[in-house]
Amino acid sequence: MTPRLFVLGAGRAGRALAHAMRVANVPVVGLHGRRPAVDTTSGELPPSLATATIVLVTVRDAELNSALLELAHARLAPGAVVLHASGGMEPAALDTLRAMGHPGGTFHPLLPLTDPTRATQQLRSAWIGVDGDDAARAASRELAAALGARVLEIPTGAKARYHAAAVIASNFPVVLLSLASRLLTASGVDADAARGALTTLLGAAAENLRAHEPSAALTGPVGRGDVDTVRAHLAALAESPELAGIYRALSREALPLAAAAGADPVRLELVRRALDEGRGPLSAS
Ligand SMILES: NC(=O)c1ccc[n+]([C@@H]2O[C@H](COP(=O)([O-])OP(=O)(O)OC[C@H]3O[C@@H](n4cnc5c(N)ncnc54)[C@H](OP(=O)(O)O)[C@@H]3O)[C@@H](O)[C@H]2O)c1
Repeated sequence: MTPRLFVLGAGRAGRALAHAMRVANVPVVGLHGRRPAVDTTSGELPPSLATATIVLVTVRDAELNSALLELAHARLAPGAVVLHASGGMEPAALDTLRAMGHPGGTFHPLLPLTDPTRATQQLRSAWIGVDGDDAARAASRELAAALGARVLEIPTGAKARYHAAAVIASNFPVVLLSLASRLLTASGVDADAARGALTTLLGAAAENLRAHEPSAALTGPVGRGDVDTVRAHLAALAESPELAGIYRALSREALPLAAAAGADPVRLELVRRALDEGRGPLSAS
């Protein structure tokens, strides 16, 4: 049976997912927000909610439990599945809905969702983290398949680790790029040139990671066991202890990758010692 979807929460994720589902020919029977807008309902939950076989809640984490409880007091179709898009939360209110016969779980796109048109395209190659009751997982798989996305089953009890991994992979490169840009511009490079060059570099590194294991994709001085360059970098960062700490910590994590790629162990040991000299707080083991 074709699912009929109701989306509760008309922010970035809700709008992007509702748009992508419509493009994928999934009937979206409602997109409901808190503020009046042309393409959404607001205020009291509309009667179309009772015709949905899947309700997808896309409100911010802090508001998730209360939005789910709102659903528990509304008219849902018997057995309708309730999904939410939070990567980090295991909301207690899902149990209330379960007790009322509504299977529940997570449908978390591993994707930064901002613009609905771009998101529709990006979702076709994205992964969706799913968990919950069997019927909820089945519903999530069905929605993901309609979008052309793949599914990552979140192991039971591992949601916080799953979400931390997603944050490390998607948020930290953004932070690292910002730090690298600051370093370049502080050295006198034009801000646009710094951003352009570094984002291109980051994009190419991410592309290489699609094709190769991290050990094979790793380039740079640690990968080559080039201790002189590592020392020069640490000297150049001496006036920015925080940045030097991050450089040391991440370089240390690069050592086993370089070893796996076959780098000379003697040279890697010299690099490790150089990284240990004058360690900052972030690089303490
Ligand atoms: N954006 C992403 O990249 C992304 C990716 C994957 C997963 N997610 C997940 O999706 C969820 C929403 O994130 P977001 O980025 O879309 O947040 P957002 O842009 O702030 O949107 C949340 C929307 O929910 C509305 N809302 C809150 N309570 C409501 C209620 N009871 N009924 C109806 N609408 C309600 C808010 O209205 P007001 O504006 O009036 O507060 C807001 O428009 C989060 O769990 C997030 O982890 C987001």
